[in-house]
Amino acid sequence: MTVLDRRLIVAVGPGGVGKTSTSAAMAVAAAARGRRVALLTIDPARRLADALGLDQLEDGMRPVPLDGVVEGEGRLHAAMLDTKRSFDNLIARLADDPAPILENRVYQAFSRTLARSHAYVAMERLYDLIHDDTYDLVVLDTPPLRSALDILDAPARLRAFLDETIIAAFFGPGLVGRSARGTSAIAGRLLSLVAGRKLVAEMLAFFEAFMPLREGFAARASATGHALQSASTAFVLVTAPESAHLGDAAYLREGLYARELKPALVVFNRAFLSDAHGEPVTPALGPSERMEMLDELDPSPGPERFALRRTLDAIAAVRDELATTNARALDAMQSFSREGEAAVQLPYLDEEPLSPAALLDLWNRARPLP
Ligand SMILES: Nc1ncnc2c1ncn2[C@@H]1O[C@H](COP(=O)(O)OP(=O)(O)OP(=O)(O)O)[C@@H](O)[C@H]1O
Ligand SMILES: [Mg+2]
Repeated sequence: MTVLDRRLIVAVGPGGVGKTSTSAAMAVAAAARGRRVALLTIDPARRLADALGLDQLEDGMRPVPLDGVVEGEGRLHAAMLDTKRSFDNLIARLADDPAPILENRVYQAFSRTLARSHAYVAMERLYDLIHDDTYDLVVLDTPPLRSALDILDAPARLRAFLDETIIAAFFGPGLVGRSARGTSAIAGRLLSLVAGRKLVAEMLAFFEAFMPLREGFAARASATGHALQSASTAFVLVTAPESAHLGDAAYLREGLYARELKPALVVFNRAFLSDAHGEPVTPALGPSERMEMLDELDPSPGPERFALRRTLDAIAAVRDELATTNARALDAMQSFSREGEAAVQLPYLDEEPLSPAALLDLWNRARPLP
């Protein structure tokens, strides 16, 4: 079973290694196998919209035209998560009376600037997508490094946040249905010392409006947490073979193991330079082979033969250079790889993969590590 057959793929990896491109490539490749795919990207990757042939990506899912690339049943929808908009949509859907929450300044600050609020929202979006049976596969592209782990921790952290003693202290147990202002007179007065009265009132109003939603948030957080642990979920660790990236990737991998997860697949992107046949460049011809070749080409003796020999030497030197780069990368990839973790390498393309066809071609050129 390849990762493309799973229900959920979460791509994680260091910055700039090609997570977004690889996620999109896997999404197109799965569509080419007839699957109905949802691709959710979190970073504002403008080029991804271009690569998918869309004028722009939006918070809501949009169909990606795959004409001429994918035949048959497969299809692809993509969205780029906009934290604030997603949060607003969520509140609008969940709250009986969303307006007071949406207009509340504390909510606005919470939804826009709260560190990690994007992780909560990503989790909620993920919940919706994996429970949407119009999709067979969900591919989640994450922002670099630390924040990828934040998304994994978001379910547990949200549950903790909702139970946090500070909230309990303010509102006491069984807050729902009671007036927050009434129950928290002392806390309110205390807060007024550090914030203006109006702001305190808004803060209390926010918690009062938000509290009834907390059970739903907690339940969805649990469900998403379970989905991330499930065998139908594949974490794909994307990295490039340079040592700085491998260091970051190792940190992420440890982060996964620490959460009792492991990469189902390691993708080494931009891993090798290809020759004219798409094969990794290998060392060039040795001196005797070059001689043989020269004899075969049989230039007229004298200046022509001399010039041809010089040209062959120069080409061989360049090829050796590229082959050395490939060999060094291969060494680094092999020492990074671990028993029990599948790994593939993708070529360093001459041109950025900026169309669904190019993305599919990139994925089709994946090759195992020798
Ligand atoms: N195999 C490849 N060959 C050539 N160019 C590539 C390849 N993979 C990705 N690129 C290019 O490298 C750049 C970075 O790729 P991408 O945006 O996918 O990385 P990322 O890991 O998502 O970055 P970020 O961490 O900023 O989100 C893009 O310009 C992309 O087109
Ligand atoms: Mg990206």
